[in-house]
Amino acid sequence: MSYDDAIMALSNNALKFVKDDYVIGLGSGRAATTLVKSLGKLIKLKNYNIKGVPTSLQIKLTAEKVGIPLVEADQVEHIDIVFDGADQIDSQKFVIKGGGGALLRENILFSIAKKVVVIADKTKFVKNFTRTVPVEVHPLARNSVSNSIKKLGGKVQLRSLDRGYPVFTENGNIILDCDFGTIKNPKSLTQKIKATVGVLESGIFLRKPDVIYRAKTGGKFDIL
Ligand code: A5P
Repeated sequence: MSYDDAIMALSNNALKFVKDDYVIGLGSGRAATTLVKSLGKLIKLKNYNIKGVPTSLQIKLTAEKVGIPLVEADQVEHIDIVFDGADQIDSQKFVIKGGGGALLRENILFSIAKKVVVIADKTKFVKNFTRTVPVEVHPLARNSVSNSIKKLGGKVQLRSLDRGYPVFTENGNIILDCDFGTIKNPKSLTQKIKATVGVLESGIFLRKPDVIYRAKTGGKFDIL
């Protein structure tokens, strides 16, 4: 079962929020990639003066390919809109992000954007979060943060490549994928995780999206 047609259709729909001269945050992952490709076409068609702010090298490469002019987050005064995917979305509309390791830059853009638009397929929607929460951690705080997460009831796994080499983020940090089982109070859990010294970011974002697109099969989608 593929959601690709729906992601393509809703990406074109979501571009209705884009205006000339906008500064646009470009999320990472498959859904964001589809949207960025459509955005590239829109910019050419309308001759818009848009600036994209990438959240990872992955999306930067895509944006370069489709001709979106880019700037970094510290070079702009504001972000008009961010388009991004999500790993899970709960019934309170909190999102878990960071499956691709870009959570810190993604959350910086979420926190400063005027509007946040999230795109995800139907399988990502749950009542309460059940998947692991990615936590970006300074490498020297690996053990201290792991111990704190365990005290919060989490099981910790250092994100690694096939042969056991740790994954380093674009910011030079490690990721601990933390299993808390079913998460009923994401806000309070996130506040506790983020209060731990050595934690750079938690995959549960406290800024909720303003618009959520849910891709269904057969090219259809809902707007929540
Ligand atoms: C990147 O770190 C993530 O936050 C992605 O936005 C998230 O994993 C969604 O990716 P897909 O659209 O590829 O599922």
